[in-house]
Amino acid sequence: MKKRFRGINSNLVHVGERPDPVTGSVIPPIYQTTTFAFETNEGMLDLMEGRAEGYIYTRYGNPNYTMVEEKLAFLEGAEKGLVLSSGMAATSVAIMAIVKSGEHIISHPDIYGGSFGLFDDVFPRLGITTTFVDPGDFSQLESAVRKNTRVIFLETPSNPTLRIYDIKKIAGFAHESGIKLIIDNTFATPFNQKPLDLGADVVVHSCTKYLNGHSDIMAGAILGEADYIDICINIFRKMGGNLNGFDAWLLLRGLKTFGLRMKRHNENAQAVAEFLDNHSLVENVYYPGLPSHPQHSLAKEQMSAFGGVLSFELKGDVKQVNHILNRVKLFTRAVSLGSVESLITQPVAAVHYNVPRELRLRGGISDKLVRVSVGIEEAEDIIEDLAQALD
Ligand SMILES: Cc1ncc(COP(=O)(O)O)c(C=O)c1O
Repeated sequence: MKKRFRGINSNLVHVGERPDPVTGSVIPPIYQTTTFAFETNEGMLDLMEGRAEGYIYTRYGNPNYTMVEEKLAFLEGAEKGLVLSSGMAATSVAIMAIVKSGEHIISHPDIYGGSFGLFDDVFPRLGITTTFVDPGDFSQLESAVRKNTRVIFLETPSNPTLRIYDIKKIAGFAHESGIKLIIDNTFATPFNQKPLDLGADVVVHSCTKYLNGHSDIMAGAILGEADYIDICINIFRKMGGNLNGFDAWLLLRGLKTFGLRMKRHNENAQAVAEFLDNHSLVENVYYPGLPSHPQHSLAKEQMSAFGGVLSFELKGDVKQVNHILNRVKLFTRAVSLGSVESLITQPVAAVHYNVPRELRLRGGISDKLVRVSVGIEEAEDIIEDLAQALD
């Protein structure tokens, strides 16, 4: 690994990168292979028994993964990282490395709908149950803890309501009860928030979003202490869910511009949030960078900037949502977030479709809510598009 530099962008360009040892190619080759050859049969056994380092089979590891894992571990300040085929693969493995059948998780309703589905539908089949609370209310957290609670799983800012949960305080609470805190840092990204520095035990990512940033690959990552990541590696090798060489290579490339893109996402989203906040047809804007956000001061404490996603509700009835979504021109009507292009969606129509209405409303996810992922286009163009749709 190359020496670490002072600035994030220098490190994003250089950490985990090395010229190809065979040809000197500055950009690493794509190791689009399933299997790796050995000079001798003894060499294979040396690798299997840990006496030699290397690669044997891509589900077990691939040089393109190693490079990405180094960069991501550096970004989150983690001892070790693991890349997987998607954010959901990362969340599943990260939890299964801690929680067994008969044990319990605490989470909240305003998380990604896919994570909700994993906790609500899949984990119960394995004997793992989840209680959904408001983690901003400590009495709810306290009363949710059971003897068999192993994990608190949080998204902050939450999805799609952009609520902020106090990582340091919740980590302290979790650790007093012997519970691990896992943070899905997809929305905030390590550019804006470092959960491990704030006391969280594990960070998971959908690298499909900002870390890659171009809406062209699915990937996920788990970051944490080396011993814990080794447990994750053991589980994931047996369950599958690995990335492939080309997608890891694309992620490595996307990461080089991650810092530049995030700066722009942050600035654009702040401008869009301020525009919406001052618009007479807009009832509520949810963006932690607005002084009117209920946890703005907490957001300023634990985040260095506030990310590229925001939500809003219009005055009037739910029909207004279709009106806006059908009239935008620069925005693309699509789920997902964190890419260079601006995307707009109604969470209850897709991303949070599977969350029961009563629970959704408890998490602040109303039918009128519109979620926007602000891209890196010119802020004036993004605002002009929303303005013409609102007119
Ligand atoms: C916050 C968050 N976490 C996790 C995921 C799941 O990631 P993936 O789609 O890469 O499996 C998503 C997907 O939208 C997300 O928004």
